[in-house]
Amino acid sequence: MKDFLTEFTRSHYCGHINSSHIGEEVCVMGWVQRRRDHGGLIFIDLRDREGILQLALDPERDPEAHAVAEDVRNEFVIAARGTVSPRPEGTVNPNMITGEVEIEIHQLVILNKAKTTPFMIDDFADIAENLRLKFRYLDLRRPSVQKNILLRHRIVHSVREYLNSQNFLDIETPILTKSTPEGARDYLVPSRVHPGSFYALPQSPQIFKQLLMVAGFDRYYQVVRCFRDEDLRADRQPEFTQIDCELSFINRDEVMAIMEGLMAYIFKQVMEIDLTPPFRRMTYAEALDRYGVDNPDVRFGLELVNLSEIVKDTGFKVFKDVVAKGGLVKAINAKGCTTFSRKEIDDLTEFVKIYGAKGLAWVKMTESGAWQSPIEKFFKPEELAAINQALNAEPGDLLFFVADNSKIANEALGRLRNQLASKLNLVNSTDFSFVWITDFPLLEWDEEGKRYAAMHHPFTAPMDEDLANMESSPEKVRAKAYDLVLNGSEIGGGSIRIHSPEVQSLMFKLLNIGPEEAEAKFGFLLQALEYGAPPHGGIAFGLDRLVMLLTGSESIRDVIPFPKTQRAACLMSSAPDNVSEEQLRELSIRLTPRAKPTV
Ligand code: AMO
Ligand code: AMP
Repeated sequence: MKDFLTEFTRSHYCGHINSSHIGEEVCVMGWVQRRRDHGGLIFIDLRDREGILQLALDPERDPEAHAVAEDVRNEFVIAARGTVSPRPEGTVNPNMITGEVEIEIHQLVILNKAKTTPFMIDDFADIAENLRLKFRYLDLRRPSVQKNILLRHRIVHSVREYLNSQNFLDIETPILTKSTPEGARDYLVPSRVHPGSFYALPQSPQIFKQLLMVAGFDRYYQVVRCFRDEDLRADRQPEFTQIDCELSFINRDEVMAIMEGLMAYIFKQVMEIDLTPPFRRMTYAEALDRYGVDNPDVRFGLELVNLSEIVKDTGFKVFKDVVAKGGLVKAINAKGCTTFSRKEIDDLTEFVKIYGAKGLAWVKMTESGAWQSPIEKFFKPEELAAINQALNAEPGDLLFFVADNSKIANEALGRLRNQLASKLNLVNSTDFSFVWITDFPLLEWDEEGKRYAAMHHPFTAPMDEDLANMESSPEKVRAKAYDLVLNGSEIGGGSIRIHSPEVQSLMFKLLNIGPEEAEAKFGFLLQALEYGAPPHGGIAFGLDRLVMLLTGSESIRDVIPFPKTQRAACLMSSAPDNVSEEQLRELSIRLTPRAKPTV
């Protein structure tokens, strides 16, 4: 076959041709979406990354090209030359960008054939995800997935433009490195040269970006892959991408303002949406109190109300006992929801149990303002009145209560709040609502390990006014940390760092990391802090999550070209895979019988 590409050059992307090109001679190349034979006239829908274009082949006008078109099948790769023409009256397709035109083809070449694909390449077919992931390169041909990847590119482009304009330097950090404490399990890589020793893949470039500040680079960024071996969810992948930033000589408000500028720039460039910084701010304590979670979706109300004080002496033993043990009784008023059926309430009860709640008490407010509820009998009239008032309960409302320790009560009701909002269609998916969460506790108590763990990571600085409490009441110390939450999703988190070796040592002490362990794990950072570390701080955004929100995707897998399954496997390449005895021998590794490959 003659090499068509030595003679012809593509003139346009399919998706770019419109009525302004009428009369022009064009050359297009791409994949056959569909071929329709009208017994004479043949129409081919040709697809490339920019869109779909209709080609028309008339046997009388160009018998040779028409003959080639007879052999064309779906997903064949073809090149075609012809004249842009208006579509005949009545055949204009207003749903297509190219819908006003077609190309009258006079030359058609098949550049490559295609086997019948395992599924139709279109956005409307309902295809099992496993099949899509196995043939991801075909799945990626679907216009909706291509759109996500294109948008991802545009976001990264804007990120670089903005950060470059703000004097950030794009600097790389190692992938084969030592464990970084971000709280997940490490992915390890065995060393051949040092038998028995392992590299850890970075959970983030945290330590290295701090070292770049010590080195004097002042402002750093990197669009960087991070690796975390953790339980996967709809918004988590084992390898994901951060927009990672660090700045010197800076305070918390300055970091937040620069990052608001970044978000505003991305939204303007990519979405043509004007954001209006400064974004709303809320302390961690307030977020938990009003929304039950530290990543609240603030696009709707349904706020949590703490009733512990009101019900602490009530006749309902469940509530009374929980308050006596230091727990919380909190409630949500689902306005106008008395219409919920028993089944709907039972389903919501099962839903809160996922988060550890032992039950979900409920009250329907009748027309007369009386309580219709299994727990009505336990309350005195004045208690009923006080609860009604606290919840602003009116006839027609449905009240939900959870009594438990603060962690469970908050989380269960916080999740119920989101669940109700989607059930009641309270959110407009085209609204974007940012909120900074600040003043996180520095430490959290790890009940299993019976010790404190860093809420963010061990390099996060305590608030100056709380420094004095670090040894006496560590649980009260707040951190100079901040998370950026968009529509209920944590899209970024960061902090001002500890730059004094003394405070860093104290922090390790609280975390029960002895001097030897600290030296072994982070000695190089501790040393660096002793050689003139500038005050510094930073943040990292989850790029995949940001793209998910901007594309309205339900799953993080929809915005990653080659994602992994919930079980951290790549169905296309079959990674992880077993390796040869020889490779293992070189690495001085012997497998135990338990280690049978599972993928
Ligand atoms: P953090 O651990 O909060 O902070 O991570 C920053 C952001 O990365 C995203 N993210 C993830 N996205 C997809 N899959 C995952 N498994 C995953 N884990 C995290 C989230 C999160 O907000 N070094 C610090 C940042 C700093 O202090 O500057 C860090 O990594 O959107
Ligand atoms: P019971 O007396 O256990 O049948 O519970 C009466 C109602 O209270 C039921 O609707 C339960 O779902 C609810 N309930 C039980 N335990 C709790 C709890 N810890 N928090 C909120 N509601 C609860």
